[in-house]
Amino acid sequence: MLDGQKRKIEYVRISLTDRCNLRCQYCMPAAGIEKLRHEDILTFDEVVRVARALASLGVRKIRLTGGEPLVRRGIVGLVRELKAIDGIEQVVLTTNGVQLAALAQPLREAGLDGINLSLDTLDPAVFHRLTRIGSLDDALAGLQAAREAGIRRIKINCVPLAGVNEPDICRLADFAQRDPIQVRYIELMPIGCARTAGLRGIPTAKVRQMLEEHFRLGPMLPVQAQAGAVNGPAVCYRLPGFAGEIGFIDALEHKFCASCNRVRLTAEGFLKLCLNAKDGLDLRELLRGGISDENLRLALRQSIWHKPVEHHFKEAHDASRDRRAMYQVGG
Ligand code: 5AD
Ligand code: SF4
Repeated sequence: MLDGQKRKIEYVRISLTDRCNLRCQYCMPAAGIEKLRHEDILTFDEVVRVARALASLGVRKIRLTGGEPLVRRGIVGLVRELKAIDGIEQVVLTTNGVQLAALAQPLREAGLDGINLSLDTLDPAVFHRLTRIGSLDDALAGLQAAREAGIRRIKINCVPLAGVNEPDICRLADFAQRDPIQVRYIELMPIGCARTAGLRGIPTAKVRQMLEEHFRLGPMLPVQAQAGAVNGPAVCYRLPGFAGEIGFIDALEHKFCASCNRVRLTAEGFLKLCLNAKDGLDLRELLRGGISDENLRLALRQSIWHKPVEHHFKEAHDASRDRRAMYQVGG
């Protein structure tokens, strides 16, 4: 399905919950979180219905996010149902990994194609400080379980923060040296808590320089995108001798809006057309109002046609901006 800018929309990110078992400083406040009520969150039947409609319009890839998607009971069954939808080639999920040890095997058996593990540090004390409640051991056990279960596409997401996890930048890249894992560095985006938490992101160019100096293997070589793949905003490189890849997501300086291929579904059933804009469609109201499959498809098609041209992270005041945090929109 094409939007009004002739961009091909083939990827949906579905947030299953606004809840999380961690409280990462750049994502959530320490306390005083307004949680959605259970009845306001889409049921899994409703999620599957939207996914089916989107698949019939050309969506091929689904990512489950949160909050933390693994805190929602029944996720294994949901993955199985989504994988069974005609046209859906890939179901993947983004997780902090702390509950993954027990779920990796059943998720794999349900057909899960990949995970993105949010892992900013390998230092237990820094992990605990940054996530406010988490234990690094749990996240690492989750990663290990995912590998043992044979989940094929494993990516690690790290948000480099000045004075917080600098030594981890190169240590995390060791994973990509040894294993076919993609380690991605995400530039801190000024969303929600990240505006007020007093954290400073490290610019992509600096991270890249740190890696090249540390590994002394020569310049990073760009990796060609695979034909037919549903690509994301990461720009990927390989260092000589690495089994895996290094990726950079640099939302502020290099806008990837022109090649954006995705829409988002929030936990309460709002179809969000751009990460940082309010524009979208209240699907929950339509679903619960008894809309037919045909009209659901039409509504989706019409809404996606109006996907915003680009984001406006850099403007200080922008009426179209969404003020919600990452855990409320699913990243
Ligand atoms: N800027 C950049 N990345 C963020 N994430 C959460 N909040 C922010 C932010 N403000 C990351 C998480 C996770 C991914 C989905 O988004 O660490 O890996
Ligand atoms: Fe939870 Fe992810 Fe937000 Fe951390 S970044 S609080 S793990 S949703």
